Amino acid sequence: MSTATTHDSTLSTKDPEVAAWLQREDRRQRATLTLIASENHCSAAVREACSSRITDKYAEGYPNRRYYGGCEVADGIEDLARQRAMQLFAGAEDANVQPHSGTTANLAALVALAGPGGRIVGMALKAGGHLSHGHDRSHTGMLFAAKQYGVDASGRIDLDEVRRVVKEHQPKVVIAGGSSYCRNIDYAAFAAIAHEAGAVLLADIAHPAGLVAAGVVPSPVGIADVVTMTTHKTLRGPRGGMILAKKEVAKQIQSAVFPGSQGGPLMHQIAGKAIAFGEALRPEFRDYQRRVKENAAWLAQCLVERGLDIVTGGTDNHIVLVDLRKTDSTGAAIEERALAAGLAVNKNAVPGDPRPPMVTSGLRLGTAAVTTRGFGRDEIAQVAVIIDGLVKGQDPERHRAAVQSLCERFPLP
Ligand SMILES: Cc1ncc(COP(=O)(O)O)c(C=O)c1O
Repeated sequence: MSTATTHDSTLSTKDPEVAAWLQREDRRQRATLTLIASENHCSAAVREACSSRITDKYAEGYPNRRYYGGCEVADGIEDLARQRAMQLFAGAEDANVQPHSGTTANLAALVALAGPGGRIVGMALKAGGHLSHGHDRSHTGMLFAAKQYGVDASGRIDLDEVRRVVKEHQPKVVIAGGSSYCRNIDYAAFAAIAHEAGAVLLADIAHPAGLVAAGVVPSPVGIADVVTMTTHKTLRGPRGGMILAKKEVAKQIQSAVFPGSQGGPLMHQIAGKAIAFGEALRPEFRDYQRRVKENAAWLAQCLVERGLDIVTGGTDNHIVLVDLRKTDSTGAAIEERALAAGLAVNKNAVPGDPRPPMVTSGLRLGTAAVTTRGFGRDEIAQVAVIIDGLVKGQDPERHRAAVQSLCERFPLP
């Protein structure tokens, strides 16, 4: 495996301290089942590109319009990544692969579309939105005049509430998408609400990007004016962001990314994105995403059958949000106990959560990473038994051997 070889052959002699940390992370990932919905395991090919020599190259600007010489390889890689992105997200009129992350993609899109101090509307963090959708602790809440919408008592987006907030606030940008929202989003309805108010629609598909690319959940491409995403969650690429834009706004987006909010692009990450998009264009990827979605629906069903509450009662994507309010547990307590058993999960607020964000009454689970390992129905059912047991107070140690056996039977790519 390339990373392990690099640690062993070079890094361990040049810098044993860092090598030891990285080897420890290799071991941690191998021995842990990742059920964190925003994580996945990218391929060895992607990791190889991310640690390649092109990390040294400065390439400020865009292909054929750079501020430094020697960018012919950077140009080739960025063009390839853009072409593959547009092939993958059919109907995309422009792709910008330079954003360093999902947050910088959103910041750039908002700078381009709302302008400094401009009004924006997004989903509240505690309802399932993301910090970068106008939360007051994020630059997007500090630099723009943000108002937020929530979800109804069942945990679903209430389009009448969205319309009411948009009519009242008269934003330039409406944001659809979230971090712990497990249901399909009606992008056409969102676009109608935004356009009626003279706003543009930004769809943030950071979470379901891979499912969207594979066509197993609805796509906002061709409906939303701008689509932002991360490349490292369900899309299974390297850490990074991307923006798809309609022709009319593509130039504004381009200059809001560079020079607006970033300097030189991370060319090694862009090479990794190109590889991941190539992988996602293969038929196996569609099959993988179908299994991610089926596994999540099955996980939700198994947990419900064991008596746990799931926000909205199920899921349409890779996310399952467990509501612990009727149990004695908190999200923080189960996160810690799960880790002791070898499961990585994260505490998460549920709609209407009375507990603070570092405690919460919810648990967010995702099936992208374990499906990459090859999990099917039997293994997911086993995971559900373990989670239910932990919620009911069983000793995590009791499950450690079963988790280890799953990790060994289903190794990392
Ligand atoms: C909906 C959404 N947008 C944006 C982001 C930000 O991505 P990053 O962590 O790469 O900045 C996330 C990350 O979890 C997200 O869930």
